[in-house]
Amino acid sequence: MVDVVLGLQWGDEGKGKIVDVLTPEYDVVARFQGGPNAGHSLEFGGNKYVLNTIPSGIFHEHCINIIGNGVVVDPVQLKKEIEKASATGVDISKNLYISQKAHLILPTHRLVDAASEAKKGEHKVGSTLRGISPTYQDKIGRSGLRIGDILSPDFNKKYRNAANIHCELLNSLGFEYNLNDHEPAFFEAVEYIKQFKIINSEYFVNNLISQGKKILAEGAQGTLLDIDFGSYPFVTSSNTITGGACSGLGIAPQHIQKVYGIFKAYCTRVGNGPFPTEQENETGEMLRKLGHEFGATTGRPRRTGWLDLPTLRYAIMLNGVTDLICTKSDVLSGFEEVLVCDRYAINGQETNEIPFSLQDVNAEPLYRNFPGWTGDLSKIRTYSDLPETFRKYMSYVEGQIGVPVNVISVGPDREETIRR
Ligand code: GDP
Ligand code: IMO
Ligand code: MG
Repeated sequence: MVDVVLGLQWGDEGKGKIVDVLTPEYDVVARFQGGPNAGHSLEFGGNKYVLNTIPSGIFHEHCINIIGNGVVVDPVQLKKEIEKASATGVDISKNLYISQKAHLILPTHRLVDAASEAKKGEHKVGSTLRGISPTYQDKIGRSGLRIGDILSPDFNKKYRNAANIHCELLNSLGFEYNLNDHEPAFFEAVEYIKQFKIINSEYFVNNLISQGKKILAEGAQGTLLDIDFGSYPFVTSSNTITGGACSGLGIAPQHIQKVYGIFKAYCTRVGNGPFPTEQENETGEMLRKLGHEFGATTGRPRRTGWLDLPTLRYAIMLNGVTDLICTKSDVLSGFEEVLVCDRYAINGQETNEIPFSLQDVNAEPLYRNFPGWTGDLSKIRTYSDLPETFRKYMSYVEGQIGVPVNVISVGPDREETIRR
């Protein structure tokens, strides 16, 4: 059987932490989309780890970790990550499996990402500049290179052909670059990752399913960054929703059982694009400060705002969420009032629906105010010990969205978790 964990907002909901917490119940953790644009943080034993491409089950010795075909892999980034994780004593060569069908991020993809964003000027998406969009463009355009290609005797030739096309584009954009700054590290990393298990992951995963193993599919980014349903064009370039787990791992839909949807008790967004409940004021500043809202991948300050139920309901619908997980509730401690947007007013009409483009209409959030709570929630381990005002707020949210919140995360550490 397969369960899925994914983000219901604009990313950074705490997927890394939650996957790490759930991993003891699974034999396998498999990433199904995205690439090193993701930054998944885990904390235990007083240490913090950030993973970009490696699945978040890697710190559990029993767990097989698969980088699925839907992921885009930058060998340079992956080598760095493997070296860092190995330094903690984890045996990566035993537990990490990489799909031969995962697409490769080339150095020129990263350059094209930078050049296209620069060209867009103030209309830029605010990408992580990890080469995600150009790599997925080549995948869909049927001209990408895949992990399996690095084992081919013609790899250098295939690389050169692809890089030449990117260089023509870079030259036409007048973008300055020097491939010598990038290619040696790329080829070194390509050699390095050949020592890991490069597999036909769709057979591997389906054999594990036949053997009755429990698989947790780990999403990256969040539903509101989905290429089809996110706030296009301010999105990432993959399907971040449950459906992405099927295509990104080669799993048939009927194998999927639980879908864990993670949301923060408030909202954040990095990069550009619409954000109806954004608080560009003292409240937003306080959320950023108390929640340490700075990107795990790029270090950029995250935009902050109140919880937005219309987008949350939309995300739950698209993903078929069975179990909700609320993170960062502890951050709201100390606010006099906590606001929840339960609907929008668009052109004078109240609605729960997400319009075609949140960018082009003025969706005014209509809020419900709740009295805040105080105290350090991070030491609490039983739901009934949480402040009553917090529980009232949570019951309202649950009532509005119709799915139970089964896990409340009250801090970044593995242990700071309440299960109901
Ligand atoms: P991901 O991309 O969804 O894995 O999330 P990130 O790791 O990018 O961002 C979440 C941040 O919040 C990280 O710094 C986590 O360590 C931290 N975090 C996760 N859950 C909680 C929580 O319940 N409370 C607090 N205070 N921090 C949390
Ligand atoms: P995790 O997995 C938050 C955002 C970028 C940008 C847009 C497109 O840590 O939740 P891209 O580099 O994908 O072309 O950027 O998507 N973005 C994320 N925001 N968390 C992420 O991942 C993100 N991955 C991409 O900031 O706005
Ligand atoms: Mg993140």
